[in-house]
Amino acid sequence: MISQNIILDNLNTAILVFDETLKLNYINTAGEILLGDSAKHLFNKSTQALFKHADLEHDLQQLIMRNEGFVNRGLVLHLQHKNITLNLSATPIYEQHKAVNVLIELQEVDRHLRISKEEQLLAQQNTSQVLMRSFAHEIKNPLGGLRGAAQLLELELVTDELKEYTQIIIEEADRMKSLMDKMLGPNKVPNKVSLNIHEPLERVRQLVNAEVSQHIDIMCDYDPSIPDILADKNQLIQVFLNIIRNAAQAIATQGNIILRTRVERHMTIANNTYKLTARIDIIDDGIGIKEELIDRIFFPMITYKQEGTGLGLTIAQSIINQYGGLIECSSTGENTTFSIFLPITH
Ligand SMILES: Nc1ncnc2c1ncn2[C@@H]1O[C@H](COP(=O)(O)OP(=O)(O)OP(=O)(O)O)[C@@H](O)[C@H]1O
Ligand SMILES: [Mg+2]
Repeated sequence: MISQNIILDNLNTAILVFDETLKLNYINTAGEILLGDSAKHLFNKSTQALFKHADLEHDLQQLIMRNEGFVNRGLVLHLQHKNITLNLSATPIYEQHKAVNVLIELQEVDRHLRISKEEQLLAQQNTSQVLMRSFAHEIKNPLGGLRGAAQLLELELVTDELKEYTQIIIEEADRMKSLMDKMLGPNKVPNKVSLNIHEPLERVRQLVNAEVSQHIDIMCDYDPSIPDILADKNQLIQVFLNIIRNAAQAIATQGNIILRTRVERHMTIANNTYKLTARIDIIDDGIGIKEELIDRIFFPMITYKQEGTGLGLTIAQSIINQYGGLIECSSTGENTTFSIFLPITH
């Protein structure tokens, strides 16, 4: 007969049990994943310390007094630095007509919504990348001819005054070619090695630190326990550079950038569930992005900068997609966060 603990630890619902003083005395694996900490660390913590939700605390105290369970649908809890919408069910466990324990079941409602949004986002990204590549490819071919013809023409010209015009054609054709090369992406085969995610991240931190003014502070909040991933270091440098540069450019005068790394457990990306996923958050307190623009900024050639190509994010996304990962963006009044998810597959 299978043990009850194994069944509880394989449930997708988080199960927590609190004693009559509302201190935790049992949590299953789904609960540990939801709260982002181990049972050992969480035991004996109060509901207030875990959920930081005054109304919920009050309802649970009432439950103890009245011996009556309750259900709270669409409850928003701030867990692991983000708001998560949950359905909560609280049930008193009686012993001799007295509630001695409180059983709490928590089910994420966002999860389903998020997975379908991710699928939609990935499909959109793939289409835009295919479009961008074929577009770049088609433009590059005639560009070579155009440049060659201008060079031949230049040889025939007798006055330097007219050569100025052929030079403009050549320079502009070169500028366009480098833009098209950027759109086509690197044609080198990625050199995937086992590497610590903090290596490319630190490299980019130093690079951007040297570029920005002293008024921008780049802070690190790393989880050193993240297992190595199999990746091409240069590709990851490019991804982090594009996103961290954007963050620095979004800060007009003074501000902060936070680089945060974490491990996510049991994450689903495009119908694949990964046991472990590295999560890299790049958070800035710059000008922010309007909600209606967020999905659009990943499209090629979308830029709100005078000198921008609008390719930084498209390239970053195309690289991360090659690794089965995902980039998400959210922007509140205070912070803009780009979250990169990279499955740890080996
Ligand atoms: N952290 C951020 N804060 C505010 N806006 C951002 C942020 N990151 C990106 N954006 C917006 O998204 C747009 C697209 O970014 P992307 O990196 O693709 O192109 P770009 O930065 O404009 O050009 P390039 O990367 O070639 O310099 C930017 O023009 C900017 O408006
Ligand atoms: Mg950019």
